[in-house]
Parts: sequence; structure tokens; C-alpha cells
Amino acid sequence: MTRVFDNVGIVGAGQMGCGIAHVAALAGYKVTIYDLAKERIEAGLATINGNLARQVSNGKLSEEDRKAALALISGTTDINDMAPMDLVIEAATEDETVKRKIFAQLCPVLKPEALLATNTSSLSITRLASATDRPERFMGIHFMNPVPVMKLVELVRGIATEESTFDTAKTFVRSLEKTITVAEDFPAFIVNRILLPMINEAIYTLYEGVGSVEAIDTAMKLGANHPMGPLQLADFIGLDTCLSIMQVLHDGLADSKYRPCPLLVKYVEAGWLGRKSGRGFYDYR
Ligand code: CAA
Repeated sequence: MTRVFDNVGIVGAGQMGCGIAHVAALAGYKVTIYDLAKERIEAGLATINGNLARQVSNGKLSEEDRKAALALISGTTDINDMAPMDLVIEAATEDETVKRKIFAQLCPVLKPEALLATNTSSLSITRLASATDRPERFMGIHFMNPVPVMKLVELVRGIATEESTFDTAKTFVRSLEKTITVAEDFPAFIVNRILLPMINEAIYTLYEGVGSVEAIDTAMKLGANHPMGPLQLADFIGLDTCLSIMQVLHDGLADSKYRPCPLLVKYVEAGWLGRKSGRGFYDYR
């Protein structure tokens, strides 16, 4: 598979950042994950290790390739370590203020020719680009969770994205053996524009007492052949992320059909964020 550069930086050692690091290392890129907290990096590296080991035990990966991929991944809490990167993918919290702060710290460190991408699942690429020093070398590269399993990546140009940036991103994503779909820069792009209102509707279905958590998930798994029920999927994505995507849809498209369900708001306010916090629609403790 063609590789047009070697060094990939990832900002954020959460489930998306680690998933992207996982697939990039398997494709032979040297990956550096930056996060503020050493503990988050250690936990992220342990997750990658576990997921690679799972692929070995499933017969999807050789032990040799697992070791080679792990050897290509390192973590850092020093943003200056992003200096040699050819491409940096920001995969921090789905919060525009946080992302803007990261770009302000990151841009002065990067090589002028380096590409910068965001894994945002909903925010305007054009607006995020304006918070960088390189809107023409900035775009959205949106992976799906769990990254090692899901085949799709959405590519989204901002208004200033140069064609050469887009072409390099395409080559990069293809080298990861993912399938590309191109979306225009509208709130939540394609996948989440469709998926999140379905999840929000499932939460309304629970809120209005139409069915229990189990009934709703069983209905959609067995009645619509979804691999996970919508409430289980919401817990998997993270209820805070689900809420912020619904807010972006509601604000950006100004249509009441995107109103976040009050029960979703309440769960997030309670700190019930799904699998990552131990409690959401299901109890993981
Ligand atoms: N890393 C590596 N491999 C993984 C993995 C991970 N994190 N998670 C699961 N797998 C592998 C398993 O090892 C297993 O491999 P084999 O087929 O070789 O046995 C395979 O994936 C299936 O996993 P499981 O048997 O454990 O469980 P499952 O059959 O229930 O599948 C699932 C799990 C792939 C997550 C499946 O339930 C699924 O596809 N769910 C829907 C996921 C989805 O919709 N994602 C999109 C979320 S939206 C998004 O990401 C956009 C956004 O911005 C919010």
C-alpha cells in the first residue's frame, strides 16, 4: 500500500485516538500519541495492546505484525514532540473550545508543510480551520468507532482546503485499507446526521415509556438487523458525545426535530456517560 509520508501524530489518547493509532501503525506509519495526562496515554497504549492481541487470537493478525505495530507507537505529554510529524490528527473531546485551544498550541510547533486534520464527528471544518494557521492544509478525517473494525472513513473539506491536501488524505486513508466516503461540510456530515437522530429517537422512546432499554435494543437488533441496539450503541459512543452531536445538529440546522432528548441531557448532567464512566443506559460496574 502506498505511503507518502511516515510520521503521524495523534492528539488525544481516548478511544478514537487510540483506534486511529492502532490502524496507522498496522499500515507501517510511525505514530506518536500526544495527551495531557501520562495516565491516559498509558491506559490508551494498554487498550491498543489488548485490541492487537485480540486480533492475533482471532487469527486476523500475526504475532510478528502485532509486535511490529506496537513498536511503531509511542506516547508523549510534550506537544513539542509533534514537530517532526507529517500529518497530525486531532482526536480530542468533541468540544470546539478544547479543539481551538489545541490548535493554538499545536500550530506553532508543526512544520509549515505538515497537514492537520480533525476527527470531529460533527463540527464545522471551515470554522475549525479558521482556528489554525493552515486552513488550506486542514480537513476532516472522520473515523468510526471501533476504528480497527469499521471500514468507513468520512473525508470532509473546509472551504479553504486545497486539492493536494484532500489527495494526500485520500492516499493516507486508502493505505489504512479503509473505504472513503466524501461529505460536504454540514453539521455532523453523513453518518452522524443519520445515526444520531435515530439514537436520540430511541432515547425518546425510552423517555416516553414506549419500551424498556432491553425492549428497544432487542427490537432494533432483531427487527432491523442492527449489530447493536441504539441504546447500547449510545453507551458505546459516549452519551456526552451523543449529546454534543445532537446540539450541533439542533443549533446548526435550526430544526426542532434535532432537539436532544431531555433524558439524554439528564444522564450527561449526572455523569452517566455510558461505557467509559461505568454507567449509561446499562450498568458496566
Ligand atoms: N479492536 C479490534 N477488534 C475489535 C474491536 C476493537 N476495538 N472491537 C471488536 N473487535 C473485533 C472482535 O475481535 C471480533 O473479531 P472477529 O470477527 O474476528 O471475531 C469482531 O470485531 C466482532 O466483535 P465481537 O465479537 O466482540 O462483538 P460483536 O460481534 O458484537 O461486534 C462491534 C462488535 C463490531 C462493535 C459491533 O457490535 C458493531 O459493529 N456495532 C456497531 C458499531 C457502530 O455502529 N459504530 C459506529 C458508531 S458511530 C461513530 O463512530 C461515529 C461517531 O462519530 C460517533
